[in-house]
Amino acid sequence: MTMIGFLGVGHLAAALLEGLLAGGRPGGDFLLSPRGQGAALGARLAVPVAADNRDLVARCDIVILATRPRDAADAVAGLPFREDQLLVSACAGLPLDRLRGAAAPARLCRIMPLTAASLGASPTALFPDEPRLRSLLAPLGPILPLAREADFETATVSAAVYGFAQALIARAATWQAAQGLDPATARRLSALTFVAAGRMVAESETPMERLLGELATPGGITERGLGVLEEAGAMAAWEAACAAVLAKLRGSD
Ligand SMILES: NC(=O)c1ccc[n+]([C@@H]2O[C@H](COP(=O)([O-])OP(=O)(O)OC[C@H]3O[C@@H](n4cnc5c(N)ncnc54)[C@H](OP(=O)(O)O)[C@@H]3O)[C@@H](O)[C@H]2O)c1
Repeated sequence: MTMIGFLGVGHLAAALLEGLLAGGRPGGDFLLSPRGQGAALGARLAVPVAADNRDLVARCDIVILATRPRDAADAVAGLPFREDQLLVSACAGLPLDRLRGAAAPARLCRIMPLTAASLGASPTALFPDEPRLRSLLAPLGPILPLAREADFETATVSAAVYGFAQALIARAATWQAAQGLDPATARRLSALTFVAAGRMVAESETPMERLLGELATPGGITERGLGVLEEAGAMAAWEAACAAVLAKLRGSD
């Protein structure tokens, strides 16, 4: 049996744990750090809680690190990591080199999941590719292994875009409700429109420009709206927001 520990039990750990349990793994396969939401989450989901972080690392084969990035190095320091162990960091903007000394001799990986992991719908970047982790994470959604750690921060920008998309969905739904559409219908319609757009791109081999070209027919409603967005600089602002997130992840901002 592979034991999986969560070092840092907050929002993300709860989403991952919910997704893994929903995928059929028994609660007894997991162990939670007692700090933060550990005790409350353990009681809610019937998952055992370790005595402390040392006990957690001693008893687990895979340890998922999900503290805030600034707490990560202190959290792993002085713990009894072993050579056959995997330490999996979900900490945004934290290069593996920052953990290597403290976590030696464990093997290190990075993942960047979304809270949609609780629904089995998180695209999750992974570096380096690691078979043990692929099978563990499979119930959380599609896994996207990266060839170079240098790309990890760029991939992590998508974790912020996930929030941008939710803000756009909320804005679109609120606008439709203000025009008189039933708010519950507006919320569902707006959210599922984004799901539909994403699925069409993700599940098709057709070049993205062609897919969009088929929608934005000359003189049609999509062309009209996209023109307004371009004129207002919305697309450039989107790129600027992504660049600002990347600079923050790289510590240059
Ligand atoms: N939230 C997301 O959607 C998301 C998505 C992708 C990646 N991430 C990454 O996941 C990490 C966690 O994010 P979050 O939103 O879940 O944060 P969070 O809700 O603040 O949870 C972090 C938890 O870590 C605990 N902690 C801090 N130091 C600890 C230590 N030494 N030992 C054990 N536990 C410790 C905190 O406990 P105390 O409250 O006692 O300090 C807190 O419960 C971040 O690095 C973030 O970049 C988050």
